[in-house]
Amino acid sequence: MLDFLRQEGIEESLISRIEQYRKDFPVKENDLSRIPCPKFKYYGSEIWKLAITAILSGENILLVGPKATGKNVFAENLSAVFARPEWDISFYLNTDAASLIGTDTFRNGEVSFRKGPITCCAEAGGFGVLDEINMAKNESLAVLHATLDFRRIIDVPGYSRIRLAPSTRFIATMNYGYAGTRELNEALASRFMVINMPIISGENLEKLLRQQYPTLREEYASQLTALFEEIRRKCESSEISTKALDLRGLLAAVNLVYNGLDMFDALNIGIINKSFDDFERTLVEDIVSARIDGKLRKADIFSAESV
Ligand SMILES: Nc1ncnc2c1ncn2[C@@H]1O[C@H](COP(=O)(O)OP(=O)(O)OP(=O)(O)O)[C@@H](O)[C@H]1O
Ligand SMILES: [Mg+2]
Repeated sequence: MLDFLRQEGIEESLISRIEQYRKDFPVKENDLSRIPCPKFKYYGSEIWKLAITAILSGENILLVGPKATGKNVFAENLSAVFARPEWDISFYLNTDAASLIGTDTFRNGEVSFRKGPITCCAEAGGFGVLDEINMAKNESLAVLHATLDFRRIIDVPGYSRIRLAPSTRFIATMNYGYAGTRELNEALASRFMVINMPIISGENLEKLLRQQYPTLREEYASQLTALFEEIRRKCESSEISTKALDLRGLLAAVNLVYNGLDMFDALNIGIINKSFDDFERTLVEDIVSARIDGKLRKADIFSAESV
């Protein structure tokens, strides 16, 4: 992963501080399996620089952005780069203090405290990914205030205070900017450095396609990138909504072609059908067919050795 950061143009001074961090905070044998080995790499050197510096400075970070901007991929990449065990915690409407911090349970006739993921992460000095943090009710997150600010403690009523191990960091993610997304209250947002996650650039999308599909012919990597860029432009000018601007759907469509569908069917179910409205779906279909030949199949877009 560190070599990948070098390729991305991250300064050597930051990289050597990451190496020092790894040395300063070795991981216990039991937690080694929690250090992720990311299947996908995050492309975007500006974002890397912001996040690495914030983490080295002791801050927690909040990744904000539209769907499929790589928020979870990036959080996992960060845990891997810093070699931290990771706890992934999904937030939903009923998330409460007990599900985060822990709760009393009966074991062998005795009451004991069963640690929740935040507590386990804090003791191990791991990275806690607070996924879709804005989906929880703000009131139930008040329990995290002391954990996320300078106090760095977990206060469990009836038990002693737990101090966060020094290497513990929290990386929250949140969708923002379209119907159905919820606000995060100011007190909570104030405890994070907020990083706006951009839609991937054309240049980085080509790199990503090449990484994920090494046998995809270059010509088609650039055609698909141009298609994605065009959909993005139409969204920016409000000609269509952001439903079809779905990188996840585009990547999946390439895989569907690899598995036997023709290009039209693959892009249809991967991208076009994401617009449920008939009028908009037709617009997206026109954008796709103007750029990509729907009859293309595996043998056309992948090089010979993979066919
Ligand atoms: N900048 C990027 N670099 C690498 N991969 C990216 C980037 N942006 C998006 N992706 C790809 O997009 C897909 C979705 O990523 P991920 O699940 O992390 O998105 P997300 O932002 O968490 O989305 P959601 O808000 O819908 O949960 C992955 O396949 C990921 O590789
Ligand atoms: Mg996500």
